[in-house]
Amino acid sequence: MGPDSIADLSRPSQHKPRHVELPDHDSTRRLGALLAHQIAPGFVIFLSGDLGAGKTTLVQGFMAALGETGRVRSPTYTLVETYARAGLKINHFDLYRFTSATDWHDAGLADLIDPSAISLIEWPEMAANALPAADLTVRLDRAPGGRLASLFAASQTGQSYLDRLSLDLGTAQVAPQQTVADGCAGGDKNDAPASGPQ
Ligand SMILES: Nc1ncnc2c1ncn2[C@@H]1O[C@H](COP(=O)(O)OP(=O)(O)O)[C@@H](O)[C@H]1O
Ligand SMILES: [Mg+2]
Repeated sequence: MGPDSIADLSRPSQHKPRHVELPDHDSTRRLGALLAHQIAPGFVIFLSGDLGAGKTTLVQGFMAALGETGRVRSPTYTLVETYARAGLKINHFDLYRFTSATDWHDAGLADLIDPSAISLIEWPEMAANALPAADLTVRLDRAPGGRLASLFAASQTGQSYLDRLSLDLGTAQVAPQQTVADGCAGGDKNDAPASGPQ
């Protein structure tokens, strides 16, 4: 089982995943920005990886690229944070605290999935088959000196998106770094005061 294999729920296509090395926090933000540059309404991205892998960091870069200037918090406790930016509606879910896949419906989260909204879902494994099918799964693994991102298309839409996606981190248009308090593993320090301007 190498990085090309993934849990069944990601429904990977037959096509090969794409990989990109992320040597530091800023690189993870830049990958998020690249993903945002060509996103379209209705797109569903699963974000896989252990606690501290960089999933929320990636969403912070994604949102910054869409023009979000406020703090992008981990929704570990709120389950979802909703944004409206660049004419898009974005729902950022974190299902880490789920005890059962039925929590997805019980918490009313299924109602947030609609063709006009973009869904970014951390810990999709916690809701297994209750979730809508992903278009793309991004898996983040710890690697020497940083992280390795593996991107798997999981739908036709996801495949054409992945085929077009630039992984040239140097071209990512991402706003200045948010505060350190935004990037905490497990999201259990999200109420820490910001240490600088947002
Ligand atoms: N490519 C990277 N290399 C090294 N550290 C990273 C990288 N990407 C993110 N981090 C760091 O990992 C930590 C956890 O990130 P976070 O996004 O909260 O993880 P997750 O949401 O997966 O639990 C943060 O301190 C962040 O700065
Ligand atoms: Mg997180």
